[in-house]
Amino acid sequence: MATIYRDSAYNTVFECMAYLNTHYFSDVEIVPRTNKFHFDMFQQTLSKGNFTGPRLLDIGGGPNLGNAIYTCTQFPEIVFSDYSEKCRQAVEKWVENTPDAINWSQFIKNVCDMEGTGNTWEERQAMVRRSIKDIIHCDVLKSNPLEPKVFEPFDAIVTSYCLESACPDRESFKVSMKNIINLLKPGGILMMFAALNESFYLIGEKRFYNLELDETFVKEAVVESGCHIVSSEVFNFQTTTLLFVAAIKN
Ligand SMILES: C[S@@+](CC[C@H](N)C(=O)[O-])C[C@H]1O[C@@H](n2cnc3c(N)ncnc32)[C@H](O)[C@@H]1O
Repeated sequence: MATIYRDSAYNTVFECMAYLNTHYFSDVEIVPRTNKFHFDMFQQTLSKGNFTGPRLLDIGGGPNLGNAIYTCTQFPEIVFSDYSEKCRQAVEKWVENTPDAINWSQFIKNVCDMEGTGNTWEERQAMVRRSIKDIIHCDVLKSNPLEPKVFEPFDAIVTSYCLESACPDRESFKVSMKNIINLLKPGGILMMFAALNESFYLIGEKRFYNLELDETFVKEAVVESGCHIVSSEVFNFQTTTLLFVAAIKN
């Protein structure tokens, strides 16, 4: 049986560049479509409410700067967190603009084109770099996922495809959801993406663990964590099903 990686494998087997090439940078049809789904969900959510931040937390961000690229126009102070040191280092290198940093320029150009506001991608890149104020360890299974750090509650939290990678079962998914929501201020917004009906995801040939989720269960977990859902959308393409949920903390 093929190995399914999880937990400490995010510090060893997980390859940031391979992950990004597969899920964010590829031209294979599913990738531009999911990138557009992410873009649309942030646009729709942030254009509706008065969510100007300033402080946003990305939980389990991995090596993915997409969420920061989409949201930095509204949230000029972003704390980026992930469980994996490899991922945090990849993000640190990009923020510090080291010669070996991952190149996000094409992705940023695409976002600027979709927004069509006339801002240059270089301006946007500089804005993203300025907005990332901290890059820290997180573990959603802990009651304070950011321990030993303690922060004022955030104005907004983004988490994409993290809880299903981290949680061994549905019970721990609900507990982790509560742990995350403890970091959000009342009236603050949660923007969450989850992969549905998948017990693993691929990076090349390698399989990484996912907790199998369905829409009803994810929404139940969000509501039980003390939020009310303001919008949600399901994205379906080929065998992929993704869920977006936006919710306000009560
Ligand atoms: C599928 S990746 C998602 C990365 C990114 N959010 C995205 O949208 O592409 C799953 C991420 O969850 C992180 N992760 C795994 N276990 C975790 C835990 N216990 N707490 C927080 N993050 C965890 C991994 O390090 C990895 O970066």
